[in-house]
Amino acid sequence: MNDEATPWQELRAGVPPVWARYTDLVVERGIGSWIETIDGERYLDYTCGIGVTNTGHAHPRVAVAIAEQAGRIIHAQQNILYHKPGLELHARLPRTFPGLRGEEEAGLFLSNSGAEAIEASVKLAKYATRRPAIIAFRGGFHGRTHGAMALTSSGVKYRGHFEPLLGGVHFAPYPYVLRNPTGPDPDAAVAFSLTGIEELFATVIYPDDVAAFLVEPILGEGGYVVPPDSFLPALREIADRHGILLIADEVQSGMGRTGRMWATDWYDARPDIVVLAKGIASGMPLSGIMARRELLDRLGPGAHGGTYGGNAVSCAAAVATLDVIESEGLLANATRQGERLLAGLQQAAEGHTCVAEVRGRGLMIGIELAQGPELTPRPDLAKAILHEAFDRKLLLLSCGTYGQVVRVIPPLVTTDEEVETAIGVISESLAVVGA
Ligand SMILES: Cc1ncc(COP(=O)(O)O)c(C=O)c1O
Repeated sequence: MNDEATPWQELRAGVPPVWARYTDLVVERGIGSWIETIDGERYLDYTCGIGVTNTGHAHPRVAVAIAEQAGRIIHAQQNILYHKPGLELHARLPRTFPGLRGEEEAGLFLSNSGAEAIEASVKLAKYATRRPAIIAFRGGFHGRTHGAMALTSSGVKYRGHFEPLLGGVHFAPYPYVLRNPTGPDPDAAVAFSLTGIEELFATVIYPDDVAAFLVEPILGEGGYVVPPDSFLPALREIADRHGILLIADEVQSGMGRTGRMWATDWYDARPDIVVLAKGIASGMPLSGIMARRELLDRLGPGAHGGTYGGNAVSCAAAVATLDVIESEGLLANATRQGERLLAGLQQAAEGHTCVAEVRGRGLMIGIELAQGPELTPRPDLAKAILHEAFDRKLLLLSCGTYGQVVRVIPPLVTTDEEVETAIGVISESLAVVGA
């Protein structure tokens, strides 16, 4: 316990600066879309703990499930025991992803963090195909472990000064329509990306050495970039042609974030492996991969694992999270509020010459700040907007390679009134900043 003599504010100095900070707030509690600080100040939290607290902070049903499970058993290690919430999750979660490349039953492997699940997906792809290479996409973010950062290219800060990195990783362009070098046209952007893959095959790596494509169905950290609808099907076709597996990183875009359970559900293509984390347990550390059983079961006993993977309390939180999403109609709410928010923000951006685009799907919305025909990134404006919103008690994050995108990530439980508040605050912030 902290003694009275040391104010909590002073203890903040003990936290190392590697945790780059958006705010200095010390939180007392979170309720739904709101957090309350130790000083009693309330903030509308449209950061969602970086897209994690999809059911809102401390949803009562999730909190009760956690407390009850903690009272029964906390750590029932996966190599030693089965536990009830884990068994239920293994049965239920794969059902949320029908048609996972084949008619067969899908399976689930659980770990703790997004990066760990990325590692699992890549290990499975290499093990199953006996191929050495992975093709990832420019602007992608997949985590900070040694393997995951080698697959990441959304910003040099995530991988710079850490060389040598994992080998056998190659990058193709992601279809970023706004910034597409051959013009801001969806078809041209997809063509540019596919040409990049063909160029890799012609110049750098034989396709039959590639184990998997690793792709975010919507770029997260890289700027909330929504690819054209034809991109994933085209990638699927190339993958099938060459016996390459398709891994969808749904760590940020999944679990209802886009108004569908998985962002991949928006596209006419199914991956072989889907990576999940963040929202699946409403804030308890839990992640995993899903794949058809025939593929997943190729990882024999001991080929992968970990002490904490599939923790009982985290699994109880995940089961309660699924219950809440289903019984409270959160996908429908995310769709409705997402449409209102997107329309409201697009309207708010009218006349602001430095707002290059307001885009998104469901409650995954980005406002890109860029100037002139060259689209010079304006991270300074994005930062200033975050600052103004903070002063008006709205918490937002940024993303994009240069930090030039304001990202808006409300919980799926957000209300009409909260959306109105956020639109109002962001409009005012845009006006004050003079974007
Ligand atoms: C798309 C994506 N993949 C992987 C990760 C890594 O997840 P974690 O931070 O839990 O390791 C993130 C985290 O932001 C992410 O957004």
